[in-house]
Amino acid sequence: MEGLKRLEYRGYDSAGIAVPGAETSKNGKPPKGGNPLVVIKKKGKIAELRQAVPKDLPGNYGIGHTRWATHGSVTDINAHPHLDPGGKVAIVHNGIIENYTSLKEMLEKDGAVFVSETDSEVIAHLVAYHYDGDLEAAVKATLRHLKGTYGIAAIHADEPGRIVGARNGSPLVVGVADGEMLLASDVTALLAHTTNVVYLNDGEVVSMSPTEFKISDREDHAVDPKIDIITWKLEAIEKEGFSCYMEKEIFEQPESIERALTGRMEFEYGSAKLGGLNLSKKELHAIERVRVIAAGTSWHAGLVGCQLMESVARLPAQAELASELRYRNPVVEPASLYLAVSQSGETADTLYAMREIQRRGGSVLGICNVVGSTIARESDGGVYVHSGPEIAVASTKAFTSQLAAFYLLTLSLARMHDMSHHEGEKFLASLKAVPEAVRKSLLARDAIQAIAKRYAHYKDFLFLGRGLLYPIALEGALKLKEISYVHAEGYAAGEIKHGPIALVSPDTPSLFLVPNDYLREKTITNIKEIKARGGPVIAVGEEGDEQLAGIVDEFIPVPKVDPRFQPFVMVPPLQLFAYFCALELGRDVDQPRNLAKSVTVE
Ligand code: F6R
Repeated sequence: MEGLKRLEYRGYDSAGIAVPGAETSKNGKPPKGGNPLVVIKKKGKIAELRQAVPKDLPGNYGIGHTRWATHGSVTDINAHPHLDPGGKVAIVHNGIIENYTSLKEMLEKDGAVFVSETDSEVIAHLVAYHYDGDLEAAVKATLRHLKGTYGIAAIHADEPGRIVGARNGSPLVVGVADGEMLLASDVTALLAHTTNVVYLNDGEVVSMSPTEFKISDREDHAVDPKIDIITWKLEAIEKEGFSCYMEKEIFEQPESIERALTGRMEFEYGSAKLGGLNLSKKELHAIERVRVIAAGTSWHAGLVGCQLMESVARLPAQAELASELRYRNPVVEPASLYLAVSQSGETADTLYAMREIQRRGGSVLGICNVVGSTIARESDGGVYVHSGPEIAVASTKAFTSQLAAFYLLTLSLARMHDMSHHEGEKFLASLKAVPEAVRKSLLARDAIQAIAKRYAHYKDFLFLGRGLLYPIALEGALKLKEISYVHAEGYAAGEIKHGPIALVSPDTPSLFLVPNDYLREKTITNIKEIKARGGPVIAVGEEGDEQLAGIVDEFIPVPKVDPRFQPFVMVPPLQLFAYFCALELGRDVDQPRNLAKSVTVE
């Protein structure tokens, strides 16, 4: 139950557990005639499951799951674990079984009756069908039928203490502890018990008892386990006095950005060094184009990164939506550097796009937060952004750490081309100043809360920016949508006269990000266009900009920084604005409806 609680942040709509029945628990052996498993599952929050679980629940092993509905509505019955008709096999499954309809039909012809609408239930039926006294063998035989993605855990009433797990496309990690073994889709569920973990690879199966575990591939070849040590501390996944994880993570950004930069700034050379790229200086120098593949907030970081690469490193760069790239039959140029950017390192769209590029001979570097995640392991090299665990569904601190990684990479590439040592030093000085500037931008907290109180009840917002602040406008709009469920559109400020300006009215506030460079005047012109049509304007701009403060309805000041670094100081106020609007509207900030933290389905 505690492990499930730790996974709550990933987003779910129901939860359940399966443990051995009372008789098995007494003597470790199932009684003659069987001893069905105890399964308790509930739609809604884990708190509801907890209420349904009796205090004297038997057993010292079991499986559990938080389900995020894909096939079948959100009901108690569709929640996991699922049982076979005999009630002896219980399984939990993360992922999608693509051929479940034909498997179901096949089993139904054989008389099977299904109780749920899920794709997952076929797995329990198949394991029972193949079971002949060996759960591991039955799971392996089942896998031969399955097409799609899965992280599976299975137990059988006749094999007390044994859990079998299998992975294809959905993460699974084994926790090796003293006298107990654990299996989870995410290390945060294990941290309270152990920091020794083994990541399973696609195609691997683990069979575990309290004292040992064995990993093999589907063809039964033994796999040598590599034990990794998790360096995240348990406190990192606690709220530590904040009202929710999102608030904690927003305020942690000065430190998390610092972590992303630590050890990577080369002051002596006015450059940056990123270990892990697996590219020689010559190979880096030969790069002619950069392409980012990512989704959501990570894509927004990529949009900033690409603009920066182009203007600072003078390399053509484009950020692509992973879900689009994969099916577009992309041309993979040999001199392109591909960057797969992902906080979780498990996003299916990004992972599959990365594999598609690799299949075509392209090399992909990962920019990930979660250590040991699939993208981090399968990419050809890469950088960890070291944000620490990001628990709130809405991404905040990972975004600014991704930005930090892009700024470092841009600097090291720029220094191979156009940028002088002296220019490099100036860039580094500005980068070094970022954590402190972000700390200052968070000081606007109370002012932003007051503004959010006044504006949270509007139904539509426009978020507008130009240049490097255009992706930040997209990010601000995404944050507001995600956690407050208020409609918001992010737009390039210069583009709104081409259509969206029709939305402007006293009921549609616009939130402007006003840069402190050559685009400032142009942005102010755009503000005036909105004001002239009666639209309320909130502006985030440089502190002391009295002229700007004088023409807008609300002004949020951010500290003065080198214009190229404004994305760092502009995004925290937008995160706070979304956060306070969500609070005002009584939303569940950390677990917004319909969303999952790592989207491991297509
Ligand atoms: C936004 C958000 C999502 C993720 C997206 C990609 O707050 O959380 O848009 O950014 O699902 O996730 P990662 O970065 O894990 O690949």
